[in-house]
Amino acid sequence: MTTDPDRLPPLRRSDFPPAFRWGCATAAYQIEGATTEDGRGESIWDRFCATPGRIRDGSSGAVACDHYHRWPEDLDLALSLGANAYRFSIAWPRILPAGRGAVNAKGLEFYDRLVDGMLARGLEPWATLYHWDLPQALQDAGGWAERSTIDAFVEYADVVTRRLGDRLKHWITHNEPWCTAFLGHLEGNHAPGVRDLRTAMQVCHHLLLSHGRALPVVRANVPGAQAGITLSLHPIVAASASAADAAAVQRHDGSRNRWFLDPLHGRGYPADTLALLGDAAPRVEPGDMAAIAAPTDFLGVNYYFPEIVADAPDRGPIRTRVVELPDVERTAFGWPVSPEGLVVLLERIHRDYAPPVIHITENGSTYDDVVGADGRIIDVERRLYLVRHLVAAREALRRGVPLGGYFAWSLLDNFEWAEGYLRRFGIVHVDYTTQKRTPKASAEWYAQFLRS
Ligand code: FCB
Repeated sequence: MTTDPDRLPPLRRSDFPPAFRWGCATAAYQIEGATTEDGRGESIWDRFCATPGRIRDGSSGAVACDHYHRWPEDLDLALSLGANAYRFSIAWPRILPAGRGAVNAKGLEFYDRLVDGMLARGLEPWATLYHWDLPQALQDAGGWAERSTIDAFVEYADVVTRRLGDRLKHWITHNEPWCTAFLGHLEGNHAPGVRDLRTAMQVCHHLLLSHGRALPVVRANVPGAQAGITLSLHPIVAASASAADAAAVQRHDGSRNRWFLDPLHGRGYPADTLALLGDAAPRVEPGDMAAIAAPTDFLGVNYYFPEIVADAPDRGPIRTRVVELPDVERTAFGWPVSPEGLVVLLERIHRDYAPPVIHITENGSTYDDVVGADGRIIDVERRLYLVRHLVAAREALRRGVPLGGYFAWSLLDNFEWAEGYLRRFGIVHVDYTTQKRTPKASAEWYAQFLRS
Protein backbone atom coordinates (compact mmCIF):
# COMPACT_ATOMS: atom_id res chain seq x y z
CA MET A 1 0.00 0.00 0.00
CA THR A 2 1.36 3.40 -0.92
CA THR A 3 2.47 5.94 1.64
CA ASP A 4 2.26 8.80 -0.84
CA PRO A 5 -0.77 10.89 0.20
CA ASP A 6 -1.51 11.91 -3.37
CA ARG A 7 -1.72 8.31 -4.51
CA LEU A 8 -3.96 7.05 -1.73
CA PRO A 9 -7.22 5.61 -2.96
CA PRO A 10 -10.06 8.10 -2.51
CA LEU A 11 -11.99 7.36 0.64
CA ARG A 12 -15.47 8.50 1.51
CA ARG A 13 -17.69 7.90 4.49
CA SER A 14 -20.30 6.61 2.05
CA ASP A 15 -17.93 3.72 1.23
CA PHE A 16 -19.02 2.34 4.61
CA PRO A 17 -22.50 1.19 5.65
CA PRO A 18 -24.83 3.98 6.83
CA ALA A 19 -25.10 2.49 10.33
CA PHE A 20 -21.31 2.33 10.75
CA ARG A 21 -20.11 3.66 14.13
CA TRP A 22 -17.47 6.36 13.85
CA GLY A 23 -15.75 7.66 16.91
CA CYS A 24 -12.73 8.03 19.12
CA ALA A 25 -11.74 6.06 22.18
CA THR A 26 -10.39 7.15 25.55
CA ALA A 27 -9.86 5.57 28.98
CA ALA A 28 -10.60 7.00 32.42
CA TYR A 29 -7.16 6.88 34.02
CA GLN A 30 -5.49 8.24 30.91
CA ILE A 31 -7.57 11.43 30.68
CA GLU A 32 -9.70 12.16 33.75
CA GLY A 33 -7.24 13.35 36.39
CA ALA A 34 -9.03 14.38 39.63
CA THR A 35 -7.84 11.16 41.20
CA THR A 36 -8.57 12.29 44.75
CA GLU A 37 -11.73 14.24 44.05
CA ASP A 38 -15.35 13.55 44.95
CA GLY A 39 -14.63 10.42 46.93
CA ARG A 40 -12.70 8.46 44.30
CA GLY A 41 -10.70 5.62 45.86
CA GLU A 42 -7.09 4.75 45.07
CA SER A 43 -6.46 2.59 42.01
CA ILE A 44 -3.56 0.28 41.26
CA TRP A 45 -2.33 2.84 38.73
CA ASP A 46 -2.17 5.59 41.38
CA ARG A 47 -0.07 3.26 43.52
CA PHE A 48 2.07 2.08 40.63
CA CYS A 49 2.81 5.64 39.48
CA ALA A 50 3.77 6.60 43.03
CA THR A 51 6.45 3.90 43.01
CA PRO A 52 9.75 5.39 41.81
CA GLY A 53 11.05 4.05 38.52
CA ARG A 54 7.77 2.64 37.25
CA ILE A 55 6.78 5.44 34.85
CA ARG A 56 9.37 6.64 32.37
CA ASP A 57 8.89 10.34 33.00
CA GLY A 58 7.98 9.89 36.67
CA SER A 59 4.45 11.16 36.00
CA SER A 60 0.97 9.90 36.86
CA GLY A 61 -2.65 10.31 35.85
CA ALA A 62 -3.32 12.67 38.78
CA VAL A 63 -4.11 15.56 36.42
CA ALA A 64 -3.80 14.03 32.93
CA CYS A 65 -6.12 15.96 30.57
CA ASP A 66 -8.29 17.20 33.44
CA HIS A 67 -11.18 15.65 31.56
CA TYR A 68 -13.09 15.25 34.83
CA HIS A 69 -13.64 19.02 34.70
CA ARG A 70 -13.28 19.68 30.98
CA TRP A 71 -15.51 16.92 29.63
CA PRO A 72 -18.04 19.26 27.94
CA GLU A 73 -15.25 20.76 25.82
CA ASP A 74 -13.93 17.29 25.02
CA LEU A 75 -17.33 15.99 23.94
CA ASP A 76 -17.74 19.11 21.82
CA LEU A 77 -14.43 18.23 20.16
CA ALA A 78 -15.61 14.68 19.47
CA LEU A 79 -18.80 16.07 17.99
CA SER A 80 -16.93 18.63 15.87
CA LEU A 81 -15.18 15.71 14.15
CA GLY A 82 -18.51 14.44 12.90
CA ALA A 83 -18.38 11.32 15.08
CA ASN A 84 -21.59 9.48 15.97
CA ALA A 85 -20.19 7.41 18.83
CA TYR A 86 -17.69 7.80 21.65
CA ARG A 87 -15.88 5.10 23.60
CA PHE A 88 -14.84 5.86 27.17
CA SER A 89 -14.19 3.87 30.31
CA ILE A 90 -15.64 4.04 33.78
CA ALA A 91 -13.27 4.30 36.74
CA TRP A 92 -14.22 1.53 39.15
CA PRO A 93 -12.64 3.38 42.13
CA ARG A 94 -14.94 6.34 41.53
CA ILE A 95 -17.98 4.07 41.85
CA LEU A 96 -16.84 1.68 44.58
CA PRO A 97 -13.85 3.35 46.26
CA ALA A 98 -13.03 0.21 48.25
CA GLY A 99 -13.73 -2.08 45.30
CA ARG A 100 -17.03 -3.36 46.63
CA GLY A 101 -19.60 -2.42 49.26
CA ALA A 102 -20.23 1.30 49.69
CA VAL A 103 -21.22 3.07 46.48
CA ASN A 104 -19.94 6.61 45.92
CA ALA A 105 -22.89 8.68 44.70
CA LYS A 106 -20.64 11.40 43.27
CA GLY A 107 -18.86 8.88 41.08
CA LEU A 108 -22.13 7.72 39.56
CA GLU A 109 -23.24 11.32 39.13
CA PHE A 110 -20.14 12.12 37.09
CA TYR A 111 -20.86 9.34 34.59
CA ASP A 112 -24.53 10.32 34.57
CA ARG A 113 -23.54 13.80 33.42
CA LEU A 114 -21.01 12.45 30.94
CA VAL A 115 -23.46 10.03 29.33
CA ASP A 116 -26.19 12.68 29.18
CA GLY A 117 -23.62 15.01 27.61
CA MET A 118 -22.92 12.43 24.89
CA LEU A 119 -26.59 11.84 24.21
CA ALA A 120 -27.27 15.57 24.03
CA ARG A 121 -24.60 15.79 21.30
CA GLY A 122 -25.81 12.77 19.35
CA LEU A 123 -22.79 10.70 20.37
CA GLU A 124 -23.71 7.09 21.09
CA PRO A 125 -22.00 6.15 24.35
CA TRP A 126 -19.82 3.02 24.39
CA ALA A 127 -18.60 2.23 27.90
CA THR A 128 -15.73 -0.01 28.93
CA LEU A 129 -16.13 -1.31 32.47
CA TYR A 130 -12.51 -2.22 33.04
CA HIS A 131 -9.71 -0.29 31.40
CA TRP A 132 -7.09 -1.31 33.96
CA ASP A 133 -7.83 0.85 37.02
CA LEU A 134 -8.56 -1.77 39.67
CA PRO A 135 -9.34 -0.33 43.12
CA GLN A 136 -6.17 -0.68 45.20
CA ALA A 137 -8.19 -2.17 48.08
CA LEU A 138 -8.93 -5.19 45.89
CA GLN A 139 -5.27 -5.48 44.93
CA ASP A 140 -4.40 -5.48 48.64
CA ALA A 141 -6.65 -8.55 48.91
CA GLY A 142 -4.84 -10.29 46.03
CA GLY A 143 -6.30 -8.52 42.99
CA TRP A 144 -7.17 -10.43 39.85
CA ALA A 145 -5.19 -13.44 41.06
CA GLU A 146 -8.05 -14.06 43.54
CA ARG A 147 -11.40 -15.48 42.49
CA SER A 148 -13.16 -13.09 44.88
CA THR A 149 -12.24 -10.20 42.54
CA ILE A 150 -14.59 -11.74 39.98
CA ASP A 151 -17.50 -11.28 42.40
CA ALA A 152 -16.39 -7.71 43.05
CA PHE A 153 -16.34 -7.02 39.30
CA VAL A 154 -19.85 -8.42 38.88
CA GLU A 155 -21.03 -6.25 41.79
CA TYR A 156 -19.44 -3.18 40.15
CA ALA A 157 -20.96 -4.06 36.75
CA ASP A 158 -24.35 -4.42 38.45
CA VAL A 159 -24.18 -1.01 40.16
CA VAL A 160 -23.09 0.81 37.01
CA THR A 161 -25.45 -0.86 34.54
CA ARG A 162 -28.43 -0.38 36.86
CA ARG A 163 -27.71 3.33 36.94
CA LEU A 164 -26.79 3.99 33.30
CA GLY A 165 -28.46 1.11 31.45
CA ASP A 166 -31.59 3.09 30.60
CA ARG A 167 -29.49 5.35 28.31
CA LEU A 168 -26.26 3.49 27.68
CA LYS A 169 -26.68 0.36 25.55
CA HIS A 170 -23.14 -0.52 24.41
CA TRP A 171 -21.03 -2.22 27.05
CA ILE A 172 -17.51 -3.60 26.84
CA THR A 173 -16.59 -5.68 29.86
CA HIS A 174 -12.80 -5.62 29.57
CA ASN A 175 -10.22 -3.77 27.55
CA GLU A 176 -7.33 -6.00 26.43
CA PRO A 177 -7.15 -8.68 29.12
CA TRP A 178 -3.80 -9.71 27.59
CA CYS A 179 -2.28 -6.45 28.82
CA THR A 180 -3.70 -6.73 32.34
CA ALA A 181 -2.53 -10.32 32.65
CA PHE A 182 0.84 -10.22 30.91
CA LEU A 183 2.07 -6.62 31.14
CA GLY A 184 0.71 -6.36 34.68
CA HIS A 185 1.60 -9.79 36.05
CA LEU A 186 4.35 -11.32 33.91
CA GLU A 187 6.44 -8.49 32.48
CA GLY A 188 5.55 -6.26 35.43
CA ASN A 189 5.80 -2.99 33.51
CA HIS A 190 2.12 -2.22 34.09
CA ALA A 191 0.26 -2.06 37.39
CA PRO A 192 0.35 -3.92 39.68
CA GLY A 193 3.92 -4.77 38.59
CA VAL A 194 3.93 -8.49 39.36
CA ARG A 195 6.38 -10.80 37.53
CA ASP A 196 5.18 -14.38 37.64
CA LEU A 197 3.88 -16.55 34.80
CA ARG A 198 1.60 -18.69 36.93
CA THR A 199 -0.02 -15.63 38.47
CA ALA A 200 -0.40 -14.05 35.03
CA MET A 201 -2.21 -17.14 33.71
CA GLN A 202 -4.52 -17.27 36.72
CA VAL A 203 -5.25 -13.55 36.40
CA CYS A 204 -6.01 -14.08 32.73
CA HIS A 205 -8.50 -16.81 33.56
CA HIS A 206 -10.21 -14.68 36.18
CA LEU A 207 -10.48 -11.73 33.79
CA LEU A 208 -12.18 -13.88 31.17
CA LEU A 209 -14.41 -15.47 33.77
CA SER A 210 -15.40 -12.08 35.18
CA HIS A 211 -16.39 -11.05 31.65
CA GLY A 212 -18.61 -14.11 31.30
CA ARG A 213 -20.12 -13.67 34.76
CA ALA A 214 -20.86 -9.99 34.22
CA LEU A 215 -22.64 -10.49 30.89
CA PRO A 216 -25.96 -11.83 32.25
CA VAL A 217 -25.99 -9.02 34.83
CA VAL A 218 -25.45 -6.41 32.11
CA ARG A 219 -28.23 -7.96 30.04
CA ALA A 220 -30.62 -8.07 33.01
CA ASN A 221 -30.05 -4.40 33.80
CA VAL A 222 -29.87 -2.96 30.29
CA PRO A 223 -32.91 -3.33 28.04
CA GLY A 224 -31.63 -3.85 24.50
CA ALA A 225 -28.02 -4.25 25.64
CA GLN A 226 -25.22 -4.75 23.14
CA ALA A 227 -22.40 -6.32 25.10
CA GLY A 228 -18.98 -7.66 24.26
CA ILE A 229 -15.29 -7.64 25.13
CA THR A 230 -12.31 -5.90 23.55
CA LEU A 231 -9.16 -7.86 22.79
CA SER A 232 -5.76 -6.70 21.59
CA LEU A 233 -5.07 -8.99 18.65
CA HIS A 234 -2.12 -9.28 16.30
CA PRO A 235 -1.40 -11.04 13.05
CA ILE A 236 1.67 -13.16 13.79
CA VAL A 237 4.35 -13.24 11.11
CA ALA A 238 7.44 -15.47 10.91
CA ALA A 239 10.80 -13.71 11.11
CA SER A 240 12.20 -16.07 8.47
CA ALA A 241 11.16 -18.86 6.15
CA SER A 242 12.58 -21.50 8.50
CA ALA A 243 10.44 -24.35 9.81
CA ALA A 244 11.45 -23.39 13.35
CA ASP A 245 10.06 -19.88 12.93
CA ALA A 246 6.88 -21.24 11.33
CA ALA A 247 6.35 -23.40 14.41
CA ALA A 248 7.09 -20.38 16.61
CA VAL A 249 4.27 -18.49 14.85
CA GLN A 250 1.78 -21.20 15.87
CA ARG A 251 2.94 -21.18 19.49
CA HIS A 252 2.92 -17.40 19.70
CA ASP A 253 -0.52 -17.17 18.11
CA GLY A 254 -1.73 -19.64 20.74
CA SER A 255 -0.72 -17.45 23.66
CA ARG A 256 -1.42 -14.06 22.06
CA ASN A 257 -4.66 -14.62 20.13
CA ARG A 258 -6.21 -18.09 20.46
CA TRP A 259 -5.85 -18.11 24.26
CA PHE A 260 -8.61 -15.47 24.28
CA LEU A 261 -10.58 -16.14 21.11
CA ASP A 262 -10.96 -19.90 21.65
CA PRO A 263 -12.54 -19.87 25.14
CA LEU A 264 -14.74 -16.86 24.32
CA HIS A 265 -16.11 -18.84 21.38
CA GLY A 266 -16.77 -22.00 23.35
CA ARG A 267 -13.69 -24.01 22.43
CA GLY A 268 -11.92 -23.96 25.77
CA TYR A 269 -8.24 -23.08 26.04
CA PRO A 270 -6.12 -24.17 23.07
CA ALA A 271 -4.68 -27.62 23.76
CA ASP A 272 -1.26 -26.84 22.26
CA THR A 273 -0.79 -23.78 24.50
CA LEU A 274 -2.05 -25.64 27.58
CA ALA A 275 0.50 -28.38 26.92
CA LEU A 276 3.31 -25.83 26.63
CA LEU A 277 2.26 -24.09 29.86
CA GLY A 278 2.32 -27.29 31.91
CA ASP A 279 2.25 -26.32 35.60
CA ALA A 280 1.68 -22.67 34.80
CA ALA A 281 -1.76 -23.39 33.29
CA PRO A 282 -4.59 -21.77 35.25
CA ARG A 283 -6.75 -23.59 37.77
CA VAL A 284 -10.15 -23.95 36.15
CA GLU A 285 -13.25 -24.92 38.12
CA PRO A 286 -16.28 -26.76 36.78
CA GLY A 287 -18.57 -24.37 34.91
CA ASP A 288 -15.87 -21.75 34.27
CA MET A 289 -15.43 -22.45 30.57
CA ALA A 290 -19.18 -22.41 29.92
CA ALA A 291 -19.44 -19.06 31.72
CA ILE A 292 -16.60 -17.56 29.67
CA ALA A 293 -18.36 -18.63 26.47
CA ALA A 294 -21.54 -16.67 27.24
CA PRO A 295 -22.78 -15.26 23.92
CA THR A 296 -21.75 -11.72 23.06
CA ASP A 297 -23.23 -9.23 20.59
CA PHE A 298 -19.93 -8.09 19.15
CA LEU A 299 -16.20 -8.51 19.41
CA GLY A 300 -14.09 -5.41 19.99
CA VAL A 301 -10.70 -5.54 18.31
CA ASN A 302 -7.87 -3.19 19.17
CA TYR A 303 -5.43 -3.31 16.30
CA TYR A 304 -2.05 -1.64 16.37
CA PHE A 305 0.56 -3.89 14.75
CA PRO A 306 1.55 -7.38 13.61
CA GLU A 307 4.12 -9.27 15.67
CA ILE A 308 7.12 -10.71 13.88
CA VAL A 309 8.35 -13.72 15.84
CA ALA A 310 11.25 -16.14 15.85
CA ASP A 311 11.91 -19.45 17.55
CA ALA A 312 13.65 -18.86 20.91
CA PRO A 313 14.29 -22.21 22.66
CA ASP A 314 15.38 -20.54 25.90
CA ARG A 315 12.44 -18.11 26.24
CA GLY A 316 9.75 -19.38 28.63
CA PRO A 317 7.29 -22.15 27.87
CA ILE A 318 6.12 -20.55 24.61
CA ARG A 319 9.74 -20.30 23.35
CA THR A 320 9.25 -17.35 21.02
CA ARG A 321 10.73 -13.90 20.73
CA VAL A 322 9.41 -10.79 19.01
CA VAL A 323 12.04 -9.49 16.60
CA GLU A 324 12.57 -6.10 15.04
CA LEU A 325 13.37 -6.67 11.40
CA PRO A 326 15.18 -3.85 9.60
CA ASP A 327 13.33 -2.00 6.84
CA VAL A 328 9.98 -2.25 8.61
CA GLU A 329 8.04 1.01 8.81
CA ARG A 330 7.49 1.93 12.47
CA THR A 331 5.81 4.53 14.66
CA ALA A 332 7.81 6.49 17.24
CA PHE A 333 6.99 3.70 19.73
CA GLY A 334 8.74 1.22 17.44
CA TRP A 335 5.46 -0.53 16.58
CA PRO A 336 5.41 -1.80 13.00
CA VAL A 337 2.94 -0.06 10.68
CA SER A 338 0.89 -2.52 8.66
CA PRO A 339 -2.58 -1.61 7.38
CA GLU A 340 -2.50 -4.90 5.45
CA GLY A 341 -2.22 -6.63 8.82
CA LEU A 342 -5.63 -5.29 9.75
CA VAL A 343 -7.23 -6.93 6.72
CA VAL A 344 -5.45 -10.22 7.47
CA LEU A 345 -6.49 -10.10 11.11
CA LEU A 346 -10.14 -9.23 10.50
CA GLU A 347 -10.54 -11.88 7.81
CA ARG A 348 -9.00 -14.45 10.08
CA ILE A 349 -11.28 -13.62 13.02
CA HIS A 350 -14.32 -13.72 10.74
CA ARG A 351 -13.28 -17.01 9.13
CA ASP A 352 -12.20 -18.82 12.32
CA TYR A 353 -14.66 -17.43 14.89
CA ALA A 354 -17.46 -15.57 13.06
CA PRO A 355 -18.52 -13.12 15.80
CA PRO A 356 -21.83 -11.44 14.80
CA VAL A 357 -20.15 -8.04 14.40
CA ILE A 358 -16.59 -6.82 14.82
CA HIS A 359 -15.85 -3.28 15.93
CA ILE A 360 -12.39 -1.77 15.78
CA THR A 361 -12.48 -0.30 19.25
CA GLU A 362 -8.94 1.15 19.04
CA ASN A 363 -6.44 1.89 16.30
CA GLY A 364 -3.92 4.68 16.24
CA SER A 365 -0.31 5.77 16.34
CA THR A 366 2.22 7.86 18.20
CA TYR A 367 4.73 10.13 16.51
CA ASP A 368 6.91 12.93 17.77
CA ASP A 369 4.57 15.82 17.07
CA VAL A 370 5.94 19.29 16.48
CA VAL A 371 3.90 22.36 17.34
CA GLY A 372 4.57 24.85 14.55
CA ALA A 373 5.24 28.55 15.04
CA ASP A 374 1.61 29.13 14.08
CA GLY A 375 0.48 26.72 16.78
CA ARG A 376 -0.60 24.04 14.30
CA ILE A 377 0.39 20.39 14.48
CA ILE A 378 0.82 18.95 11.01
CA ASP A 379 1.04 15.27 11.94
CA VAL A 380 1.42 13.92 8.42
CA GLU A 381 2.39 10.43 9.59
CA ARG A 382 -0.55 10.00 11.97
CA ARG A 383 -2.94 11.24 9.32
CA LEU A 384 -1.52 8.73 6.85
CA TYR A 385 -1.71 5.96 9.43
CA LEU A 386 -5.38 6.77 9.92
CA VAL A 387 -6.19 6.97 6.20
CA ARG A 388 -4.36 3.75 5.38
CA HIS A 389 -6.06 1.83 8.18
CA LEU A 390 -9.47 3.07 7.06
CA VAL A 391 -8.68 1.94 3.53
CA ALA A 392 -7.84 -1.44 5.06
CA ALA A 393 -11.09 -1.46 7.03
CA ARG A 394 -13.00 -0.77 3.82
CA GLU A 395 -11.15 -3.62 2.14
CA ALA A 396 -12.10 -5.97 4.99
CA LEU A 397 -15.74 -4.97 4.53
CA ARG A 398 -15.44 -5.62 0.79
CA ARG A 399 -14.16 -9.09 1.58
CA GLY A 400 -17.23 -9.82 3.67
CA VAL A 401 -16.06 -9.09 7.22
CA PRO A 402 -19.04 -7.82 9.28
CA LEU A 403 -17.29 -4.68 10.47
CA GLY A 404 -19.56 -2.32 12.39
CA GLY A 405 -17.43 0.53 13.68
CA TYR A 406 -14.10 2.29 13.98
CA PHE A 407 -12.86 4.16 17.05
CA ALA A 408 -9.62 6.07 16.61
CA TRP A 409 -7.21 5.91 19.53
CA SER A 410 -7.28 8.51 20.83
CA LEU A 411 -9.34 11.67 20.93
CA LEU A 412 -6.72 13.41 23.08
CA ASP A 413 -3.04 13.06 23.82
CA ASN A 414 -3.02 11.41 27.23
CA PHE A 415 -1.22 9.48 29.95
CA GLU A 416 0.26 6.54 28.08
CA TRP A 417 0.75 4.14 31.03
CA ALA A 418 4.39 3.21 31.66
CA GLU A 419 5.48 5.80 29.08
CA GLY A 420 3.80 8.64 30.97
CA TYR A 421 3.30 11.69 28.76
CA LEU A 422 6.17 10.84 26.42
CA ARG A 423 3.88 9.26 23.83
CA ARG A 424 1.20 11.28 22.11
CA PHE A 425 -1.55 9.20 20.50
CA GLY A 426 -4.18 11.93 20.23
CA ILE A 427 -5.63 13.35 17.07
CA VAL A 428 -6.16 16.39 19.29
CA HIS A 429 -3.03 17.86 20.88
CA VAL A 430 -3.05 18.64 24.59
CA ASP A 431 -0.72 21.23 26.08
CA TYR A 432 -0.32 19.78 29.57
CA THR A 433 0.71 23.14 31.04
CA THR A 434 -2.34 25.07 29.90
CA GLN A 435 -4.69 22.15 29.10
CA LYS A 436 -5.31 23.79 25.73
CA ARG A 437 -6.67 21.38 23.13
CA THR A 438 -5.66 21.83 19.47
CA PRO A 439 -6.94 19.50 16.75
CA LYS A 440 -3.99 18.16 14.74
CA ALA A 441 -4.00 17.77 10.95
CA SER A 442 -5.11 14.15 11.52
CA ALA A 443 -8.22 15.38 13.35
CA GLU A 444 -8.91 17.86 10.55
CA TRP A 445 -8.64 15.03 8.04
CA TYR A 446 -10.91 12.76 10.10
CA ALA A 447 -13.52 15.54 10.37
CA GLN A 448 -13.36 16.25 6.67
CA PHE A 449 -13.73 12.53 5.93
CA LEU A 450 -16.62 12.08 8.35
CA ARG A 451 -18.39 15.05 6.85
CA SER A 452 -17.77 13.93 3.24
C1 FCB B 1 -3.81 0.08 24.08
C2 FCB B 1 -4.56 0.54 25.29
C3 FCB B 1 -4.81 2.03 25.32
C4 FCB B 1 -3.61 2.81 24.82
C5 FCB B 1 -3.15 2.26 23.49
C6 FCB B 1 -1.99 3.02 22.89
O1 FCB B 1 -3.17 -1.12 24.36
O2 FCB B 1 -5.81 -0.10 25.36
O3 FCB B 1 -5.17 2.39 26.62
O4 FCB B 1 -2.63 2.81 25.77
O5 FCB B 1 -2.79 0.92 23.64
